[in-house]
Formats: sequence, structure tokens, C-alpha cells
Amino acid sequence: MNRKYRKTIIAGNWKMNMLASEIKPFMEQLKENLPKVRACDVVLCTPAVLIPALGRAGKDCMVAAGGEDVSCFDKGAYTGEISAAQLADVGAKYCIVGHSERRQYHGEDDMLVNAKAKALLAKGICPIICVGESLEQREMDLTMEYVAFQVKAALSGIDAAQLRRCVIAYEPIWAIGTGKTATAEQAQEVCEGIRAVIRKIYGARPARAVSILYGGSMNAKNAEELLACPDIDGGLIGGASLKPVDFSVIVKATDQD
Ligand code: 13P
Repeated sequence: MNRKYRKTIIAGNWKMNMLASEIKPFMEQLKENLPKVRACDVVLCTPAVLIPALGRAGKDCMVAAGGEDVSCFDKGAYTGEISAAQLADVGAKYCIVGHSERRQYHGEDDMLVNAKAKALLAKGICPIICVGESLEQREMDLTMEYVAFQVKAALSGIDAAQLRRCVIAYEPIWAIGTGKTATAEQAQEVCEGIRAVIRKIYGARPARAVSILYGGSMNAKNAEELLACPDIDGGLIGGASLKPVDFSVIVKATDQD
């Protein structure tokens, strides 16, 4: 982390978990455990149907609500899709785009991820742009090349002013939901590489100001070490974000000085 230049963000990704009836007890427990004074912003990205309830419950404990996906279209005949305007309307401040599960199960490519990021920016929502390599790519030593390509494609046509509202999440696919976390060295190396890619496109200042999160089996035990890395500005947390106590421990791990 480097709080002098950029925001630290701890964001949960609930994926397709939780019911509306579970939000109240979850938020009560979270509120009890979260520190009142925090070194980071706290976000919970949830299924769109849960955002209004989460937004209401999160208000008095300063937890922002976010979406997990968005349509790249503005409005119209796109059955089942949810637009950025609709997310903004129910109070979403952030939204994940390009999660590897969307890329893998829904065939999303870099162009679509770019279009979704732009759709969110147009409605004032911060995109959390996910990138990350497969195990095969890592073993073939293609990690940085692949991740650099994803970052460039996702940011194509996004100007420096818009970049200020973008968050990048480095999530190695092999670390997601597997309990296999990237080592702090591995995660730092790629996050540093991502910042270098952004520096090349936008220059030193904008690159210094972008928050880059790590995601992939981040938990209450390993968060502190990962967050101590200079280019890791927070976490995108799946499993552990479903447990209020563990999630709070990760939030507390951002308070390192
Ligand atoms: P886990 O923390 O469960 O590995 O999930 C990470 C993730 O996919 C967050 O977007």
C-alpha cells in the first residue's frame, strides 16, 4: 500500500451467494467488528438484487455497495441484463468487470470488458477491472505479457481523468477459490508490472494514483503480508467476504503504520 498517493480499498465479492434475509444479520455482525476509524474504503460487491438492501444497511457503517457485472449497453431490449444507470440508481458506487468467472463461463473478452468499464464510468460508477493469468500461462512464463495485454485492452480509450476512477484487480485464476494464494512476492511483482504498464500509457502521476488490488484466496491470515507490499493497494475478496469477522480482520490489516 501507499496511502500517500492512492486509496486503499478492501472489496468483497459475494459472487452468487447470500439472500436478502441474510443481509441484516451479516451487516450487524460486520458493524460490530469493523473499526470505526479505517485506513481503507470498504466495499461489498453483491448480486444486483441485493444492492438496495446492502446500500441501506451499509450507510451507517460506511460500507459502499457495488455490482458484480454490468451490461455494456445503455438500455433497451437486452433481456436479463442490468445497465450502469440501473446500478447507479440503486446506489452502486463500484462494479466488478472482467472477473475470470465471467470470462470463463460467459465468454467475455477484453473488448467487452473495456465497453463495460466505459459504460460504468459514464454513469459515475468506479469499475473494478479484473485481470489475471491461468496456471498454464504462469507455468509458461507468460504471466506479465498476458496481464499487460488485458490491462491495455481494458483501458483502451479511457482518458487520464477517467483512469482516476478505475480500480485494477489482479486475480491469478489459479488462486481463486482454491486456497492457493499467490505469494506476496508473486502478487507484488505483477501489481508492480501493472503499474508500469499504466505508467507507459498515462505517465508517472496517474500511474502512481491508481489503486491496484490483489484477489485470490486472500484471507484473515495472509492479508497483512500481501497488503504490506508497496504496489498492492487492497484486496478483492471472495470466500472470506462472506464471513463478517474474517472480512473485518482483512480491513484491519490495512492499518499498518
Ligand atoms: P476467493 O477469495 O474466494 O479466492 O475469490 C477471489 C475472487 O474471485 C474475488 O473476486
